Amino acid sequence: MAIELAPSLLAADHARFGQQAQEALATGETWLHVDVMDGRFVPNLSFGAEVVRALRPLCPAAFFDVHLMVVEPERYIEPFAAAGAHAITVHQEATAHLQRTLAAIREAGCLAGVALNPATSPEILRYVLEDLDLVLVMTVNPGFGGQAFLPIAARKVGELARLRAETGATFKISVDGSVNVKTAPGLARDGADVLVAGSAVFNHAAGVAAGIAALREVVGP
Ligand code: DX5
Ligand code: ZN
Repeated sequence: MAIELAPSLLAADHARFGQQAQEALATGETWLHVDVMDGRFVPNLSFGAEVVRALRPLCPAAFFDVHLMVVEPERYIEPFAAAGAHAITVHQEATAHLQRTLAAIREAGCLAGVALNPATSPEILRYVLEDLDLVLVMTVNPGFGGQAFLPIAARKVGELARLRAETGATFKISVDGSVNVKTAPGLARDGADVLVAGSAVFNHAAGVAAGIAALREVVGP
């Protein structure tokens, strides 16, 4: 199955979200990764559901992949679903009742994802496999773009691919944090289905399309 690239808007020019999202999608990609930070779960603030609501009509064919780095993410499922999110991913470390939260995301009509901080074991997913559409493996500690890749956290990609094969589960494996032309090939080989990329796309010296083309060159069409 072809790999999805999910350009992360956190690294885009915040004064030109619409234009930058359209530049990314003009290359033929469909995913857009939306990083939501509350200044509590992570030490940074970003933006909320209004950004998704504003971008939806500008990017009608996009798949909005929302990553909630917030405490009690269950409080934000409805607003993001109403704004047009397609997938909502919550951190295992941020919600007390993970199964209930995942069920609520599906109930709201979205794909349900769980993000794992670098220190969190994929084993915690074993009892929510039936409620799960996406696992987001963080290869940096969440909160900021442009950080250094943590190779030990990337080992979870292979572990999750084995867990999936062993249990017959169907979740997609996504990787977030310092995905670039050096790290992407190994992640793809280990079984990643989705690669989230912020700096490698929006901070590429030759522009957004060149950033995406460089990643496509190493992971295939
Ligand atoms: C980090 C965010 C990432 C971020 C990745 O907390 O979840 O999605 O945009 O940025 P890069 O690709 O620059 O590491
Ligand atoms: Zn993210």
